Amino acid sequence: MDRIRIAGGRPLEGSIAISGAKNAALPLMAAGLLTDDRLILDNVADLADLRTMAELLAQHGIAVERTLPRRLSLGGAITNTEAPYDIVRKMRASILVLGPLLARTREARVSLPGGCAIGTRPVDLHLTGLEAMGAEIKLDSGYIHATAKRGLRGAKITFPFVSVGATENLMLAASLADGETVLINAAREPEIGDLAECLNAMGSNITGMGTDRLTIIGARRLHGAQHEIIPDRIEAGTYACAAAITGGEVLLRGARSADLGAVMACLLQAGVDINETVEGLSVSRRNGLHGTDVMTEPFPGFATDMQAQFMTLMAVAEGASMITESIFENRFMHVPELSRMGARINVHGASAIVRGVPVLSGAPVMATDLRASFSLVLAGLAAKGETIVSRVYHLDRGYEHVEQKLAACGAAIERI
Ligand code: UD1
Repeated sequence: MDRIRIAGGRPLEGSIAISGAKNAALPLMAAGLLTDDRLILDNVADLADLRTMAELLAQHGIAVERTLPRRLSLGGAITNTEAPYDIVRKMRASILVLGPLLARTREARVSLPGGCAIGTRPVDLHLTGLEAMGAEIKLDSGYIHATAKRGLRGAKITFPFVSVGATENLMLAASLADGETVLINAAREPEIGDLAECLNAMGSNITGMGTDRLTIIGARRLHGAQHEIIPDRIEAGTYACAAAITGGEVLLRGARSADLGAVMACLLQAGVDINETVEGLSVSRRNGLHGTDVMTEPFPGFATDMQAQFMTLMAVAEGASMITESIFENRFMHVPELSRMGARINVHGASAIVRGVPVLSGAPVMATDLRASFSLVLAGLAAKGETIVSRVYHLDRGYEHVEQKLAACGAAIERI
């Protein structure tokens, strides 16, 4: 199994091209189920999770080809409406095929995703939303069996709390439903706006992007389109932390401050210098880092997908910081690993108190989930001595060419 070896202590200097957003690409690929025409997606990163989605779509009958290094071309007719456990268990976002399959063929059988390392992560909001649109849902043998004999119809759906995936699944379904769907308390993440833009290019009529109320007027049929995916704000935030923790200066090409939401303000407050230019965000740190409290929240709040990386930054900041995780119930698995590298962190329920130390020390550590794995890479980049991160398949799910991007900026990092 691959591991990553890092010799820490070198400031990163240079530039890093930010890849297309994984979390935008996943629902956009699922949108390929909404039409027999060709859907062309540009700025698509080469990531394990996207290959899993391509595998899932292929067994539904939609061929996904990489026709250019950054381009995916999707096309074909649906030949199978079952999403099997073997693929769904690898990636929870597989649930995003449920809405499109049901809207298109009036029937779908999708394996229940089950829990994952960061929490139980139920899909009840996806299911109750589809029921409100006329679907009949039965759970049997670990599968969701959804039917809509007379097709899906528009509905007014109020989410009790914000869910990115449920908002996306219902947007996909509503695009081919009969009449108007209104999603209230919808997610406002930039990936939602990106999905809406592509669905509109396919013939849907979605308004309210960037607000918590989306209105979708369903179309009888959707057609092909070409769409360019937004830059990955989590990758950008992660490399901003890398520049900051090593005291270097990195230009994040293509990154946009508006997509970072509260992450931007928290980095600035912690003492990171960020300048927006036409090329992207230039991130540096010349002075010390200060302890800064953060609480994860739906966008534009502080992204839960940046929590682990920010915690590593705070592990070497001056003073204490309180990091509260309000989205997932079990997202501090990086804490024991960071502690092995000398971090001083105490977890109390949903909050972690981080007391900054002057320097971390390299150690063998184990990645536990996608974002947590990069928090260990960050710790390794800043630490004195050698760090070996194992279980890097977590990293490969969502970060493209990590070693190449970091090594090009002077990091001593290699895959072994
Ligand atoms: C998406 C992102 C993930 C990010 C998360 C929160 C993708 C592919 N993944 O995940 O990287 O960490 O948003 O920003 O875009 N919940 C329920 N019932 C539901 C749906 C969700 O209880 O039906 C709960 C979840 O367990 C979680 C919270 O709601 O506690 C938010 O989850 P959600 O926004 O749905 O996350 P995902 O779409 O799975």
